[in-house]
Amino acid sequence: MTNETLPKTAKLTLGDHAIDLPVMVGTAGEVAIDIRQLRAKAGAITYDPGLGNTGACLSKITFLDGEQGVLRYAGYPIEELAKSSHFVEVMWLLLHQELPSAQQLAQFTHDITYHTMLHEDLKRLFSSLPKAGHPMAVCAAAVGALSTFYQTAGNQTHEQNWIDAIRLLAKMPTIAAYSYKHSIGQPFMYPRNDLSYAGNILHMMFATPCEAYEPNPIVARALDLLLILHADHEQNCSTSTVRTVGSSGANLFASVSAGISALWGPLHGGANQAVIEMLMSIRDGKRTAREFMELAKKKDSGVRLMGFGHRVYKNYDPRALILKQACYDVLGQLGKKDPLLDIAIELEQIALNDAYFVDRKLYPNVDFYSGIIYKALGIPVDMFTVYFAIGRMPGWISQWLEYQADPEARITRPRQVFMGATPRPYQPVEKR
Ligand code: ACO
Repeated sequence: MTNETLPKTAKLTLGDHAIDLPVMVGTAGEVAIDIRQLRAKAGAITYDPGLGNTGACLSKITFLDGEQGVLRYAGYPIEELAKSSHFVEVMWLLLHQELPSAQQLAQFTHDITYHTMLHEDLKRLFSSLPKAGHPMAVCAAAVGALSTFYQTAGNQTHEQNWIDAIRLLAKMPTIAAYSYKHSIGQPFMYPRNDLSYAGNILHMMFATPCEAYEPNPIVARALDLLLILHADHEQNCSTSTVRTVGSSGANLFASVSAGISALWGPLHGGANQAVIEMLMSIRDGKRTAREFMELAKKKDSGVRLMGFGHRVYKNYDPRALILKQACYDVLGQLGKKDPLLDIAIELEQIALNDAYFVDRKLYPNVDFYSGIIYKALGIPVDMFTVYFAIGRMPGWISQWLEYQADPEARITRPRQVFMGATPRPYQPVEKR
């Protein structure tokens, strides 16, 4: 059906009651039925656990077509951005849905460079947490704590939101690096304003006060690529969380802190850590690749092929394609070999030729190959998801800002289909 032949309304019949629901079409052809009047007109709600059929907002930021394996930020294909852009420019693109002019880019780069320091008192928060705690928990706590240092957050004027956005983009690498330095008992390294965004992350992670440190440009460029690929992915679990928390009027820091927690889960961003642990377990002889794949197909085994499958992609995730090639490029440039890459390729080959995975349209997602690159760059395994969070920051912030500016936005409050007990009299404890 083309846009011209598409009916303007969809008819819903419930018993002898029929109602017309408006049909809307997105700029990339997505067809949606507007059900906002459904309950009022038909006395019924929709049932959609996991919200796989529910459009919760209108957005101009990111488009993805899961059937075709297409991803675009504000109209620009991810492949072109990965090849020709850089993370700071991509941040601006997501925030404004336009590429910056040279002057805008220079001003923006200056702003996020000069807000990188944390308040000295915030450092004590890191020191008060157990060293063995997961850095994602530490980052969620530190980002949430920013609201206590910037108490104007929550005024939510456009100007205030923009200042909060700049602060968060600038400070997230510092928070991430401090979470790592604390975990290994090294002194925190202050940010350096002469370095690039990625170079500064590497400096704060790996430099010590004892020696001069210069980030390796190959490592910095590879990291920049990873950050670009993670920068946004429309209404995924963590982004929906950020929008949902923001819908109550909570400030940006509180909303993003919740997003970090959502990203941590192994079914979402935490999969990058889970993938490398899975590959290591095969490398260390716990199981062969084939044995592992047999297990992943058994529902009751509790094992999944991590880094495979996606709610929206029913084709190769375009980010995984870019990252697979980047694995070869980065390992080659750094003169490294990693048997985990061979194991990943073997798992992928088995999956692409196995009816279980083919029939369910399960392909590698962004997390399947990213861990191999993080590992080659020297990033510790439990920091992988933190790096994902640094990359996703402009996406979360852009989506939060879009929600705040949306005249149709309402507090997020789904309904339910109640399946519990019907009314019954209370029984005192001695009679139960
Ligand atoms: N390994 C084995 N089987 C799988 C996998 C997998 N990785 N993923 C999905 N399946 C199977 C399911 O068991 C289900 O089988 P069934 O139809 O026989 O019941 C079918 O494929 C559909 O899977 P669902 O879980 O219903 O798909 P959903 O869209 O709800 O979940 C998810 C998507 C969570 C990503 C899932 O594919 C998964 O768990 N993958 C592994 C974890 C992972 O890599 N997560 C990162 C995703 S990317 C990101 O968030 C950044």
